[in-house]
Amino acid sequence: MNKFETYAYDVLVIGSGGAGLRAAVASQESGARTAVISKCLLGKAHTVMAEGGIAASLGHVDENDGWQPHFKDTMFGGKYVNDWRMALIHAKESPEAVRELERWGAVFDRTPDGRILQRAFGGHTHPRLCHVGDRTGLEMIRTLQDRAVAVGIDTFMECIITRLLTDREGAVCGAFGFFKNTGKIVVFRSKAVIIATGGLGKIWRITSNSWDCTADGQALAYEAGAELKDMEFVQFHPTGMVWPPGVKGLLVTEAVRGEGGLLKNKLGERFMKKYDPKRMELSTRDVVARAINQEVKEGRGSEHGGVYLDISHRSAAYVKRKLPSMYQQFKEFADVDITKQPMEVGPTCHYTMGGVRVDHESQQSSVKGLFAAGEAAAGLHGGNRLGGNSLSDLIVFGKRAGMGAAEYARKVQSPAIIEDTTLEQYSRELFLPFERPGGETPAGVHHDLQNIMEAHAGIIRQGSELQEGLEKLKILKTRYPLIHVDGNTRYNFGWHLYLSLANMITVAEIIAKAALERKESRSAQARADFPNMDSAWGKKSIIVTKVNGAPEIRAELLPAMPDEISKLLGDH
Ligand code: FUM
Repeated sequence: MNKFETYAYDVLVIGSGGAGLRAAVASQESGARTAVISKCLLGKAHTVMAEGGIAASLGHVDENDGWQPHFKDTMFGGKYVNDWRMALIHAKESPEAVRELERWGAVFDRTPDGRILQRAFGGHTHPRLCHVGDRTGLEMIRTLQDRAVAVGIDTFMECIITRLLTDREGAVCGAFGFFKNTGKIVVFRSKAVIIATGGLGKIWRITSNSWDCTADGQALAYEAGAELKDMEFVQFHPTGMVWPPGVKGLLVTEAVRGEGGLLKNKLGERFMKKYDPKRMELSTRDVVARAINQEVKEGRGSEHGGVYLDISHRSAAYVKRKLPSMYQQFKEFADVDITKQPMEVGPTCHYTMGGVRVDHESQQSSVKGLFAAGEAAAGLHGGNRLGGNSLSDLIVFGKRAGMGAAEYARKVQSPAIIEDTTLEQYSRELFLPFERPGGETPAGVHHDLQNIMEAHAGIIRQGSELQEGLEKLKILKTRYPLIHVDGNTRYNFGWHLYLSLANMITVAEIIAKAALERKESRSAQARADFPNMDSAWGKKSIIVTKVNGAPEIRAELLPAMPDEISKLLGDH
């Protein structure tokens, strides 16, 4: 027994967004005593920011939809480097996952005959997004939270995990962290751990992501020995706010385009006709983001460096009903009435397709006892995620991770007990920045990290720039141990940023290395020096593992696709 506050569970879920809550419900319902650790207050996870909808081929608006077109669209969107097995499971299981949410109390917008309404979204060939106005993520979290409470899951809020605990064989047996309100250390012993910590947008300066999206799960898993996959594929959502500066990057939902919004440059041209004349505004995000980038670069941008997005041709009542958050967001932050005026929008770092490599069925990582789901996991989306596929990902694979972890936990007698000396060392590391004289601040180092990634690993990449970025990251790493933190351990944002910076720096280097390795342009990875897709790279994933303290990169062949599945994709 150690001297730290300690809890024991069968399954520990790190993260309280859609994937974490869905995983926890599934785990508890499978008979495993389960707890959820939340870095924020319950109900505030980044999933609440998901706006436009959940992709599932219910066929309520277009009866020609089905899992086959959804599978095909997902693979096409990811430019075929998806794990096709995950894409298949996702397409087949997402309709039932949505119906389950409805049974648990989610109130979706309705068709005139009372069924779940679905809207169009980029890259989906049928109207497929089940939605609640533009507040779908909020409804999902509300519903899952109710369910989690109903099935009796324990929750630990405002708790930051800084280490996964591993036994002598390298299997994960718990987690180590502290509570934000007191700074008090906490140790969780568990037979299995599920990483559901979401994304990493805060590595970039312009991002739609909330403060909590700091690559925690990817870094925790990597440090514990897990493989990361597809890390070069980072999605820039085409439409974030560009003005005023304080809200630059804030998401402008794709639902605006799904409801008929038009993209125009400063000459009033619908420029998407040059980039994707067939799908226009509803092209995939990678294509639209690069198109906006190009328009701005060639001098046809809007006043504040974006382009215009106009929905004012629809009635004011319709806009306010279908896009209430957008209406409010622009009115309050930019003094723009979107029922009368166009919005100014530009690309914003939104999502990572890469993450912890997992088994397509159980979501187990390459480390025993460690599972991952949602944005923290890799595979489903390949090189680019379609809008709405993240919310369905969370519930389909969150459930599978919960069931997989519970099944694994059943076979474990008792998690190993970690020596006090190890825990004391982890504890000392946490408090180091309070003691050293320093010279660097967490905000200063974070600011420079974001600038490096904006300049060297953005929408359009180049080998020499990535290389230069990696050199700069090397220098940045030497500044990390010089960071000093003021104040005490209660709600100390500087301290929390210092700790999450370790994760962000680790993962930024991995992303830049993976982007340098993939010598081609494919979906979200656009290389100016390799502008075309390369069929050899189209058969490979990039896998990263920690070897002798540094990321080691290797390319690995994608799982072979049987003919009957290949036929579903047609010619590609
Ligand atoms: O644009 C949006 O509403 C975002 C949705 C998503 O990323 O799936």
